[in-house]
Amino acid sequence: MITILEAVGTDTDYSFETLALHAGTTPDPVTGAMLTPIYQTTTYRQEAVGKDKGFKYSRSGNPTVSALERRLAAIEGAEFATCYSTGLAATTALFLALFKSGDRVVSSQAVYGGTVRLLRQTLAPFGVKADFVDTSNADAFAKALQKPTRLVFIETPANPTLKLTDIDLASRLAKKAGALLVVDNTLLTPALQRPLDLGADIVLHSTTKFIEGHNATVGGALITRDANLHEQFLFTRNTIGTIQSPFAAWLTLQGVKTLPLRMARHCENAERIARFLESHPRITRLVYPGLESFPQFELARRQQSAGGALIAFEVEGGVEAGVHLMNSVRLCALAENLGAAETIITHPVSMTHGAVPPEQRAAAGITDGLVRLSVGLENPDDIIADLEQALDASAEGLL
Ligand SMILES: Cc1ncc(COP(=O)(O)O)c(C=O)c1O
Repeated sequence: MITILEAVGTDTDYSFETLALHAGTTPDPVTGAMLTPIYQTTTYRQEAVGKDKGFKYSRSGNPTVSALERRLAAIEGAEFATCYSTGLAATTALFLALFKSGDRVVSSQAVYGGTVRLLRQTLAPFGVKADFVDTSNADAFAKALQKPTRLVFIETPANPTLKLTDIDLASRLAKKAGALLVVDNTLLTPALQRPLDLGADIVLHSTTKFIEGHNATVGGALITRDANLHEQFLFTRNTIGTIQSPFAAWLTLQGVKTLPLRMARHCENAERIARFLESHPRITRLVYPGLESFPQFELARRQQSAGGALIAFEVEGGVEAGVHLMNSVRLCALAENLGAAETIITHPVSMTHGAVPPEQRAAAGITDGLVRLSVGLENPDDIIADLEQALDASAEGLL
């Protein structure tokens, strides 16, 4: 019988839901165990000098991690993936694999704060130049690419403003400039957005978020259709020693199985909550790509199949009221992270984007009062009730 693992290489007709469940794994040939085991081993006994079974040392490769890599490649519609200890380890490997001193990257202005810190504080002293540009503005984007550029790095929707960048346009501009296009697809996952089909060269994930989905691991991945790029990522990962642990890979393999179901419910819940917030008299600004009020609604419809799970908003009373609201939630968790089964509320300026310089935050629209909500899988009525009581509490706090 043909296994799904063999089939993935030869037959791309399996649907996304089936690939999310089966791609990359086969029953254990010794025991028949359905799940790929956690291969908790440092090394692999070799049959003879120069003769091994494909694994030599768990810094360079591990069978559990490889199973996850095959699964992630399959669901992104790619051939190759490498998995890392964190999302930022994936970003670090990407930059170290592709940059040399003097190279320039054009990045979206609003990206995850850790990406900004890595470029501005760790890589700049080595001669890597980063320009942060409003990539949602086609003219500004095209202008930025008039100077020699090695890499275009976009995050769409951007964290936390949810501004979109047109991936198809980005791919055409990057090609014209002779640059590679990387899309951080963490916020939507391939369940809702397929950057490689729109012309991206590389997809990056913090698998910590929706891909694993249960607040249980940290991890990252780089996914590509290009064998040469993949070789460079494998080499760099081995050189810097940032492979994912087999246990985290195993948990992520289980999480991915329900990705299509979870993303559908995340989006359904987020849309209901966004509509509730939009109609609430104390919400002064509400951003959700699934609502008609979203300034780039047409692009959202064209490039993503739903609005996603993230909502950004501001409350009447500014920073003070926003902070009071975040301190008043009971069911929603005040925490750093997004994309988990549990609803998480975050203050980007003091938490995830604290490392972004205030001028860049202002230019990107990351205001001091901005609240980010990652809508989870609870009954949306319970989340709405919690937000309602927190909004009332924050209004009282202002009296
Ligand atoms: C969009 C995005 N990319 C990358 C990262 C970095 O991932 P990690 O926290 O797994 O290192 C994050 C983390 O919040 C993120 O939100």
